[in-house]
Amino acid sequence: MHSDKSVKREHWGSKLGFILAAAGSAVGLGNIWKFPYIAGENGGAAFIFVYLICIAIIGLPVLIAEVLMGRTTQRNPVGAFRKLSNSPFWSAVGGLGVLAGFVILSFYAVVAGWSFGYIVEAIKGSFSSFTKVGASGDYFSSLTNNIVWIVGYLAVFMGLTMLIVYFGVQKGIERASKIMMPLLIIILLILMIRGLTLPGADKGLEFLLKPDWSHVTPQAILIALGHAFFTLSLGMGAMMTYGSYMSKDDNIPNAAFQIVILDTLIALIAGIAIFTAVFAMSENPAVGPGLIFHTLPVVFSKMAGGYIFAILFFILLTIAALTSAISLLEVVIAYFVDERGWQRHNAVITFGLVAFIVGIPSALSFNVMSDFTIFGLNFFDFVDFLASNILLPLGGLLISIFVAWVWGFDKALINLKYGAERLFDNHFWIIATWKVFIKYFAPVLIFLVLLNSIGIL
Ligand code: TRP
Repeated sequence: MHSDKSVKREHWGSKLGFILAAAGSAVGLGNIWKFPYIAGENGGAAFIFVYLICIAIIGLPVLIAEVLMGRTTQRNPVGAFRKLSNSPFWSAVGGLGVLAGFVILSFYAVVAGWSFGYIVEAIKGSFSSFTKVGASGDYFSSLTNNIVWIVGYLAVFMGLTMLIVYFGVQKGIERASKIMMPLLIIILLILMIRGLTLPGADKGLEFLLKPDWSHVTPQAILIALGHAFFTLSLGMGAMMTYGSYMSKDDNIPNAAFQIVILDTLIALIAGIAIFTAVFAMSENPAVGPGLIFHTLPVVFSKMAGGYIFAILFFILLTIAALTSAISLLEVVIAYFVDERGWQRHNAVITFGLVAFIVGIPSALSFNVMSDFTIFGLNFFDFVDFLASNILLPLGGLLISIFVAWVWGFDKALINLKYGAERLFDNHFWIIATWKVFIKYFAPVLIFLVLLNSIGIL
């Protein structure tokens, strides 16, 4: 029961609206929390260099492919694959994407909930007494051990996500992105300037920007590849869904390029803001995932004006997570609206609630369910691993194979040309390069990431 053409599909109100919404999806916990610490652990500038290459040879090409599939079909991932192939197998690949979106939303919202909770803690001044990371780590554990705190903020964050998606593409997602993305950039610049003006900031810059090639192992390259993928929200149809609200006269390669630049710059600026402050306050940069919730509160408590900067930082992190979460929920909603004929409002309430409920075991993994394991991982780590390390690379692999080999290049190019006629006429080499990358490089490299994820490589 799919409502072909019967209901008028929503569209973005402007090109900028699409770019900000898509950049909002891309810029998330991955940029502000994960990128700085993996860059720090894997050779600083040398890793960043490898990462930029990965973004160029698989990130950008797959992003273009996803947006193109969405715009061409004007459908959610399941409908998009079906319309282009008429095959149950490929429709199921779209279904896998919808499922991945749902699963990612459920645990992503748990961490985003902590971030929201930390805005409140920062306002309460809870960090002011921390002088050691041990103390702030204990404080973090005491919060995440508190079921009411952790499930409560999961609910608050999911509620915010639902509220935005409830109002639809233009009035909800686009409007929220147009407010939140500029705010995010302003806060980030303030934090970067604060970091750079601290005495000792140069050591942080050196840590992040001085290339150490000895760290760039094959493993580090695979991490860079995997992250290039995750940070651009690829592999599960989020960008396809956002692309499905585009009109034919938008220039896809151009828009994709701008999204990639925004995502990359924001990750780099976040890295600079964080590491200048961490080094200036003589804290350990190499703590991995604990960097944000353990180390930074101590950094803020030691820093002049840290009270305000802490509040700003967690607002920044929450905004970044929120604009990503809305794109995850939108994939699920688009599927039920397009394919199952649901009303948007009902779909948002139903599936937002279901995602919240599925998120509860992830939240409880930090307390009462910490001993419950699947393949040796707690529930949170398991769903994170399943989605980020298996479903996303698998989805990305299949999307690039689909566009290059199943849908076929000639048809893809005809559709890509709409809105990009000048690029086709004047710089066809860019298009030709895209073709080679999506046809050969992307599938092979993503396959290697997948093998690495499941421990074969
Ligand atoms: N790109 C997001 C980040 O960097 C995370 C993410 C991965 C995502 N896949 C996604 C977000 C799909 C939305 C949709 O944090």
